[in-house]
Amino acid sequence: MQITCGTDIIEIDRIQKSIEEMGERFLERVYTPQEIAYCESKKMQKYQHYAARFAAKEAVFKALSGELKDKYAIEWRNIEVINNEQGRPKVHLQGLHIPNIQNIDISISHCKSYAVANVVAVMDL
Ligand SMILES: CC(C)(COP(=O)(O)OP(=O)(O)OC[C@H]1O[C@@H](n2cnc3c(N)ncnc32)[C@H](O)[C@@H]1OP(=O)(O)O)[C@@H](O)C(=O)NCCC(=O)NCCS
Repeated sequence: MQITCGTDIIEIDRIQKSIEEMGERFLERVYTPQEIAYCESKKMQKYQHYAARFAAKEAVFKALSGELKDKYAIEWRNIEVINNEQGRPKVHLQGLHIPNIQNIDISISHCKSYAVANVVAVMDL
């Protein structure tokens, strides 16, 4: 068994600027329809949630980078973050089957300026 972690921090402004400048093109490249629906439901706070998901995808990539390297062509939308009824986020690998991943856990936080995500992956090696 191998345990790896990944972390990422991002400025909310950077994501807001990308969304304002590139609109749908950026959203559809980075986020799944379910992620977009979740963030849009947050209205005024939506950029914090978009930024958090961006950080989450980067953190997952960091946690899995050794495993993904040269083996899988991974895109932003292959990593989806969905919240359960209690609000706890969970990572789903969409259209990407990596057989030796046992579990991926994630924690997210955001404030007015920054969003941060921490990921722990457990792999059978
Ligand atoms: C859920 C809670 C932890 C969120 O914390 P917060 O400081 O308001 O907000 P943060 O920016 O740090 O975190 C927000 C993220 O927390 C995550 N989150 C929400 N509910 C969660 C839960 N039940 N479990 C784990 N993570 C959760 C989400 O990923 C959310 O971001 P998202 O909506 O973009 O996915 C907080 O609102 C809460 O309920 N705290 C309870 C505190 C308490 O009871 N303390 C008693 C002693 S421990």
